[in-house]
Amino acid sequence: MDTEVIIKTASGAERVSVLFSEFPDQDSHCVVEDCDKVADKPVLIMHSLYPDQNNQLVKLVLLLSALKDAGAVSVAVFVPYLPYSRQDKKHVAGEAVSLDVVLSFMANAGCDQLYTIDCHFMKGAAQCERAGLSIKNFSAGKRLLDHCRSVLSNEDLQIIGPDEGAKYLLDGTRSGHMKKLRGGYGELAKGNSYRKIAELKSEHLDITCGDIVIVDDMISTGSTLIKAIDNLKNQGAKNISCVASHGLFIGDAYQKINKLCSNIVVSDTINHLKSVPVVDDLLIEKIIPDWFKLDPASTDHTRI
Ligand code: R5P
Repeated sequence: MDTEVIIKTASGAERVSVLFSEFPDQDSHCVVEDCDKVADKPVLIMHSLYPDQNNQLVKLVLLLSALKDAGAVSVAVFVPYLPYSRQDKKHVAGEAVSLDVVLSFMANAGCDQLYTIDCHFMKGAAQCERAGLSIKNFSAGKRLLDHCRSVLSNEDLQIIGPDEGAKYLLDGTRSGHMKKLRGGYGELAKGNSYRKIAELKSEHLDITCGDIVIVDDMISTGSTLIKAIDNLKNQGAKNISCVASHGLFIGDAYQKINKLCSNIVVSDTINHLKSVPVVDDLLIEKIIPDWFKLDPASTDHTRI
């Protein structure tokens, strides 16, 4: 997703152009080209924070700060995938809760409202206040499962979550979730902050021989799905598909999972060759109408 900035006007909305560039030493630089248009207007930024999340975060806070400086009355931000959302608590003493650091970074730069999709710590359509930021989360889960149903021409899928956190994505009567337990950090001193999966169990699941779909909020290294697929295959499952909102596919995760299942369905929150388009739909159906309600400057969200 290219960065887009729109302002609310009396007749609808208007785009404002932004230029990002880099100094020779790679410091980021941001200029809001039509900054005089922004004064006294509510603003919505659409910006992708992945891949290259650390650089993209800096660009976003520079843009927020430039818009506030140009006199924007409020700034809402839509990021399809929120990096750092998995570090929402401490697992060891002395650890930074990076989610809160990132949220307050945005809030302090001037973000008043954050919109996102299948944010790991929010578990489905919900809103919350955290680290000084108001956050609204929307889910792509139902759209992705419906897509899977149409690809498989089967309405009656058995839908399995690989852990308790995926419970909110389950739908249908024949659904259930596994239990996942992560171990401690193994190799922090070597620079790797990864907590391996110590155990993944599916004790009370009655696996049938039809089409089975494993659904999760995200696929990162693929370890969760690979363990879940192995587990289901050991119980006799044959036709397994994998569905997730965010497909990060670190290293060769895609190839590894692809060898083990019949379909991989992910959304376009992260650019990927074979993704199901959900970002624009959620933007048009949910996010822009919600943003228009935040401020009474205009009510006609169709005139963008
Ligand atoms: C964690 O609880 C998430 O919901 C996902 O299950 C996890 O982040 C997937 O990561 P990976 O693909 O590395 O196992």
